[in-house]
Amino acid sequence: MDVKRLVAQMTLEEKAGLCSGEDFWHTKAVERLGIPATMVSDGPHGLRKQDEKVDHLGVNDSIKAVCFPTACATAASFDRALVTKLGEALGDECQHENVSVVLGPAVNIKRSPLCGRNFEYFSEDPYLAGEMACAHIHGVQSRNVGTSIKHFACNSQEHRRMSSSSEVDERTLREIYFPAFEAAVKREQPWTVMCSYNRINGVYASENKWLLTDVLRGEWGFNGYAVSDWGAVADRVKGIQAGLDLEMPGSGGYNDKKIVKAVREGRLDEKLVDQACERILNIVYRFVENRKPDTPWDKEAQHALAADIAADCMVLLKNEGDALPLKKGDSVAFIGEFAAAPRFQGGGSSHINSFKITSALDAAKEAGLKVRYAQGYSVREDAATDAMIAEAVQAAREAKTAVVFAGLPDSYESEGYDRAHMRMPECQNRLIEAVAAANPNTVVVLHNGSPVEMPWIGKVRAVLEAYLGGQAVGQAAVRVLFGDVNPSGHLAESFPLRLEDNPSYLYYLGEGNRTEYREGVFVGYRYYDKKQMDVLFPFGHGLSYTTFAYSNLRLDFGKSVLEEGDTVKAAVTVKNTGRRFGKAVVQLYVGAVNADPIRPVRELKGFEKVALQPGEEKDVFFTLDKRAFAMWNTQIHDWYVPAGQYRIEAGDSSRNLPLRTEITLSDSRELPRHYDMNSVFVDLMADPKAKALLKPIMEESSRKFAGEQNEGQTDAAKEAVSEEMGEAMMRYMPLRALVSFGASEDTARALEEIIRRIND
Ligand code: BGC
Repeated sequence: MDVKRLVAQMTLEEKAGLCSGEDFWHTKAVERLGIPATMVSDGPHGLRKQDEKVDHLGVNDSIKAVCFPTACATAASFDRALVTKLGEALGDECQHENVSVVLGPAVNIKRSPLCGRNFEYFSEDPYLAGEMACAHIHGVQSRNVGTSIKHFACNSQEHRRMSSSSEVDERTLREIYFPAFEAAVKREQPWTVMCSYNRINGVYASENKWLLTDVLRGEWGFNGYAVSDWGAVADRVKGIQAGLDLEMPGSGGYNDKKIVKAVREGRLDEKLVDQACERILNIVYRFVENRKPDTPWDKEAQHALAADIAADCMVLLKNEGDALPLKKGDSVAFIGEFAAAPRFQGGGSSHINSFKITSALDAAKEAGLKVRYAQGYSVREDAATDAMIAEAVQAAREAKTAVVFAGLPDSYESEGYDRAHMRMPECQNRLIEAVAAANPNTVVVLHNGSPVEMPWIGKVRAVLEAYLGGQAVGQAAVRVLFGDVNPSGHLAESFPLRLEDNPSYLYYLGEGNRTEYREGVFVGYRYYDKKQMDVLFPFGHGLSYTTFAYSNLRLDFGKSVLEEGDTVKAAVTVKNTGRRFGKAVVQLYVGAVNADPIRPVRELKGFEKVALQPGEEKDVFFTLDKRAFAMWNTQIHDWYVPAGQYRIEAGDSSRNLPLRTEITLSDSRELPRHYDMNSVFVDLMADPKAKALLKPIMEESSRKFAGEQNEGQTDAAKEAVSEEMGEAMMRYMPLRALVSFGASEDTARALEEIIRRIND
């Protein structure tokens, strides 16, 4: 379709109208010109297509669909191919249902365990979040259906989400909060990007030109349309100017009129309205012209896929004395209401109307397993009666193994608000304690969207983190518990011991409408590692029923200066040293050894999921580009690799990295210099050009300084100004100090001249 020609035929009113939705879920049609409406729908771990009664927070039902594992679970798979499969299934559903764009993936960084939407987000780590986003988008868009990566940007809390300003420094934005969006835009070109509700450093995302135009399009090359989060538009005219193409839902025409008025009054360039229309229509026609309405939607097959995916996402957190897997003939008690009615997704706009739900109890029965059930607690009441506990204890006593299904009820975490604490329900903690006291063979299965405190961790033998694993989570749990599937998930987030340990703890939620991201780049394990703090479970952690050995970390890079496009190749050998088939997650971290500039100890820069038969070994290859070593430099506003040693570590969690090597690297570019009389000696001496020019003056002053020190000094005076102190004072003295402390006028003039030459 020649979209430009079409837009040229539209009236200003039609164009302004096209820049907002017809209703909650449709773009506008322009019948006069044959422009069709297209539908967008929520997800992204299933399709939430609302047919008639529409609203955006899931109050009204949507069509029956398949709820796949949520992002907190899929990220733990560390499996790109698996996430792509989920995306493909979703894309097929959308073709079947005539949905042009599925709203997701959501890639906001888990700054705090408390964020109400953490279950929808992938990780505390920007690299992992970016890889998962790319995999998801790749899958959906391979079916000619668009995605809407969201919420751009810095929407890491629900509290005051429509008004709060996320105050984030430039480096932190670039290193932590942007990279998942950046990777997705550069590599997968999501058809649309959804801006967040909040403001960023004072400016609403929906009217932030720097964000939506300069960075998103100018730097990253985005070519789809930018859409507002639902109701995120504050000033529509500013939005058009900033590059926000589509307002959703509509505003009943209110904002469209403002656009028209602003153009008529010469306050808004009509070309910008044309541009927004072209961007919207490009996507509308990309979908319409590639429709595959005959795509089948086999819900049962997708339910089976949801079970396969969920099983590969589960994280075995603890497994003392090989308590798991359970033997199929053993007597087992399933305790806790979540065994019969699992919590498998979260509340809000991503809520899927599942066509079917398989609980662990259903799955066990179906598999003919001997399992006894005790309710243990009531989810609705959020309480456990004495009788419930007594029944659970009895069941636990009479079984070889007691499996408690626990976690967070819906009311504990949801879109729209944040958690106030990191605890599990008191009644569930009490139940676990009672069951563990009755049977030392107690296993806990957790259904939650974000970390919880585990006061009973020392009393149970095993913990399986099932997260919010989608509608088939029960089937997946039974397969993992009984060893049909060997668990291979690894944590995409740290589990701190206590909420107070989290780096954002002091500032999270902010004051009034301002929330300062004061911990900067030290989010999650970047903080815990730097502070050498104990955590309950570290980022990247996950056990298996087999064992893996890592060896032979090798690097291939023949030089020490990194130019744009250069890559450092790394390889690791991993071997299955146990007796079961299993999947290892090989993780590669990079860290600068130098303490200046201030950087995290290590950052994830590569991972691969590797399937291995017993005894089998494989080489795993990684490509580290310049970015893997770079940090954001606020002087040049670009990525830069500070010269120095870099440590490369490999292993199976951020705290288990048996392989380590180092490499010396520097950036091919030189940072611009600007020195003056206030510059200090140590900085100048680190600069070869400055050092050479200043050498004679430096030598002379050191001689003089040392001479003055020695001449006729009493012992007491020598003690007062030690050699170390003299040296340190000299190192950190500004050049002007030479003049203050007695350099001749000639020397002072010579210095000024030298500074001029260095700056040139
Ligand atoms: C959410 C989005 C969602 C939209 C449409 C908003 O409240 O923040 O994630 O896609 O509603 O339902």
